[in-house]
Amino acid sequence: MSQELKGKVAIVTGASRGIGKALAATAAGLGANLVIGARNSGPLQEAASELAKKYKVEVLAVACDVTKLEDLENLVNKAKEKFARIDILINNAGVSSQYPFQDQPLEDFERLAHTNYLGYVRLIRLVINDMIKNKSGAIINMVSGSTLCDPLPRNFIVYSSLKVGLRAFSKGLFWELRDHGIKVTSILPGVTDTDLTGKLKEITGDTSRLMTTEAIENAVRFALTVPQNVCPLEIAVINQQTPWTAPVIPFKQQHPGK
Ligand SMILES: NC(=O)c1ccc[n+]([C@@H]2O[C@H](COP(=O)([O-])OP(=O)(O)OC[C@H]3O[C@@H](n4cnc5c(N)ncnc54)[C@H](OP(=O)(O)O)[C@@H]3O)[C@@H](O)[C@H]2O)c1
Repeated sequence: MSQELKGKVAIVTGASRGIGKALAATAAGLGANLVIGARNSGPLQEAASELAKKYKVEVLAVACDVTKLEDLENLVNKAKEKFARIDILINNAGVSSQYPFQDQPLEDFERLAHTNYLGYVRLIRLVINDMIKNKSGAIINMVSGSTLCDPLPRNFIVYSSLKVGLRAFSKGLFWELRDHGIKVTSILPGVTDTDLTGKLKEITGDTSRLMTTEAIENAVRFALTVPQNVCPLEIAVINQQTPWTAPVIPFKQQHPGK
C-alpha cells in the first residue's frame, strides 16, 4: 500500500457512503488519517470503523450538517484537537434535486445552496488560515459534470448552477492561494451510481452509462500525489458513452418521486 500521505490529515465531508466514502478510502489508502463527517452518525461510525480497520489509519467520525455553521466549526475544532493539523480537505457532501423549475419546492433552494455551495465555501474559510500558515494544503471540491453542459441539463438547473458557482469559486481560489503552496482541485464527475442517483437507475435506459466511483477515486489519487509544483485545477471524469446532447436522464423526465 502506498504511503504518500502518511502523517497527513484529511477531512472528508459526506463520507458515510457514495463518492465521499470512496474518497475517504482513497486518502486512507495513501496513508492519511481521516476526519469524516455526515449528518447521520450510525452509518458514519460504521464507515469510520471499516476504514480504520482496512487501512490501519486513525479515523475520527464527527456528525456534521454542512448547512450549519456551528457544525462546521465543531468539525474543524474536533479535527484540530485530535490531530493538531489539517492538510487535505475533500469537500464532497451534497444533495441532488431534480424538478422542472416551476414545480421545484421553494424550500429546496435554500437547502441546495447551503449544502452544495455555502457549506463548501464556509468549510474552506475555516481551514484555510491554518493551511496558509503551514504553506501547504490541498482542497478538493466535488463539482459536477453537469457544469460542462451549456445550457444546463433540464430539470436540474438549480443544482447545476450552484455547482457552476462552486466551480468558478474553486478556480478563483486557486489563483488566490497558489502563492501559499495550496492546491485547489475541482472534480467534475459524470452520473455515478450512488444513492444520490439511485432513483435514476430505474429510469435510465442504459445503466452502463452510470459510472462507478472507481475513476473518481483515481482522479483524486492523482490530484493528491502529483509533484509539489503541479496543481490539477479541474478533472472531469465522465462516461465515455455520454453524449452531452442525449442526457442520461430521459428528456421528458418527471421528478423520480412522482
Ligand atoms: N452521484 C453522481 O452522479 C454525482 C455526479 C456529480 C457530482 N456528484 C456530487 O458528488 C457528491 C457526493 O454525491 P454522492 O453521489 O456520493 O451522494 P450520496 O451517495 O447521496 O452521499 C451523500 C453523502 O453526503 C452526506 N450529506 C448529505 N447532506 C449532508 C449535509 N447537509 N451535511 C453533511 N453531510 C451530508 C450523506 O450523509 P447523510 O445523509 O448522513 O448526511 C452522504 O454521506 C455531491 O456533492 C454530489 O453533488 C455526484
